[in-house]
Amino acid sequence: MELIKNWTDELRYLPYHEWTKEYQKFLEATIQHSQWRLGYHIQPKSGLLNDPNGFSYFNGKWQLFYQLYPMGPVHGVKSWAHISSENLVDWTFEGIALLPDSSFDRHGVYSGSGIVIEDELVLAYTGNVRDSDWQRKSYQMLARMNKAGEIKKDQRPMIPAPPQGYTHEFRDPQVFEYQENYWLLIGAQTETLEGKVLAYTGKSLETLHFAGSLNFTDQAMGFMVECPNLVFIDGKPVFLFCPQGLDKKIMNYQNIYPNAYIVADSFDTDSLSLVNPSSLANLDHGFDVYATQAFNAPDGRALAVSWVGLPEIDYPSDSEGWAHCLSLVKELQLKDGQLYQLPVKELIELRQERQSMDGKIFQQPLTLAEETTNCYEMHLDFSVDSQGKLHLYSDAQQDHSFIIDFDTKNGMISVDRSHVSNPFAQEYGTTRTLTIDKNEPLSLQIFVDHSVCEIFVNGGQAVLTARVFPNHEEKNVYLEGISGDFSADFWCLRNMKND
Ligand code: FRU
Repeated sequence: MELIKNWTDELRYLPYHEWTKEYQKFLEATIQHSQWRLGYHIQPKSGLLNDPNGFSYFNGKWQLFYQLYPMGPVHGVKSWAHISSENLVDWTFEGIALLPDSSFDRHGVYSGSGIVIEDELVLAYTGNVRDSDWQRKSYQMLARMNKAGEIKKDQRPMIPAPPQGYTHEFRDPQVFEYQENYWLLIGAQTETLEGKVLAYTGKSLETLHFAGSLNFTDQAMGFMVECPNLVFIDGKPVFLFCPQGLDKKIMNYQNIYPNAYIVADSFDTDSLSLVNPSSLANLDHGFDVYATQAFNAPDGRALAVSWVGLPEIDYPSDSEGWAHCLSLVKELQLKDGQLYQLPVKELIELRQERQSMDGKIFQQPLTLAEETTNCYEMHLDFSVDSQGKLHLYSDAQQDHSFIIDFDTKNGMISVDRSHVSNPFAQEYGTTRTLTIDKNEPLSLQIFVDHSVCEIFVNGGQAVLTARVFPNHEEKNVYLEGISGDFSADFWCLRNMKND
């Protein structure tokens, strides 16, 4: 048997039960030999994972779902896979929760969110259906999970069609409660091909009415907005969304599509406005974050998790029969009106023994960690006059590495993945650069997990996320440069427990 290389529409939309058991076994066996599987990130057992969905806390556990196509590393007919956790670190696979098996979702159970209402977790999602002319129809649907984990889809759509003037590019409902009403925000496109976010509201999810288009910017949001998410931090709205086709003059970005956010003063429900919105900012300055889902957790935190992957791009692990992962769970905070993203405190549980060192940055490369398992966390503090390069995923000859270039004098940090073996998506650039405050110390909290690296800059002021696909021998860490002092802490991390 061989992995499928020529994915036709017919194959991608074949119902799951029509795939042979042998093929599925072969796929899972092939993935066992992958060199890029992850230790403590959520990844698909086989096939393709994309957006996080239904992130919630229900029945004493964190509940999380994700878009899954299990039969190969392509965007085939999607379902919702379900995982749960007691600590946001170790996740148990609960199986496929929503299959694309009804007349309202047979070409894909698309993204959505979850809300606890009485003793049920109510899941809001988009049913994707192609008609006989292959035209898309989008239905906003509900399903309900009880405390025994049984899930039932509603028979009829909650919203059967987009409002007048909008196309069927209409998806990704975020459901939340605000001032004693339920709200749905949905990514949308006008018939004149403008990206919008539509709001529905009502006293119950069964009696929602169309309220209008959410006012969160005066600028054009490209041709489509996907995955809108409104959360409240210290009472202020923070709005995360994915505009497609956004003019780079509005926000500078290099990824095919960005994940953007704005912070506002308040949500005026009468005018459907986010009042006094900030300009658009990039949620992640790296290469691969998209479709971040955030929610206000019952413990008071605003938690977020992202898809680490992008639409319409091939990744090296495709050749191993799987694609993509989710990010670590991040806590969103506001400090002086600025958004901070921090890895949740629970992740400390992964740490093994600590190793520490400090010194000066010299031209001569200094090894910080040798022959690692590429499964570690590292904290680095640099003095105000630091100029240097930190190399992760380096081979012994120092020919290959992932380079983090930093210059605190001039206020710059950049990442370069072109020197890691198995480069990809090079047409979107191989470096990403971030401006930081000049003449300030710099701190980096770095998580490396085989083929993903998440870098939290200055206590979460900015994040850079990157997939990288090193060869086996690329596992050292070294530092070189011109000036500055540093101190470093290093922990090997254990794998997540996943059953
Ligand atoms: C974003 C997205 C969503 C859609 C889902 C389908 O990555 O395109 O808009 O619901 O993926 O898998």
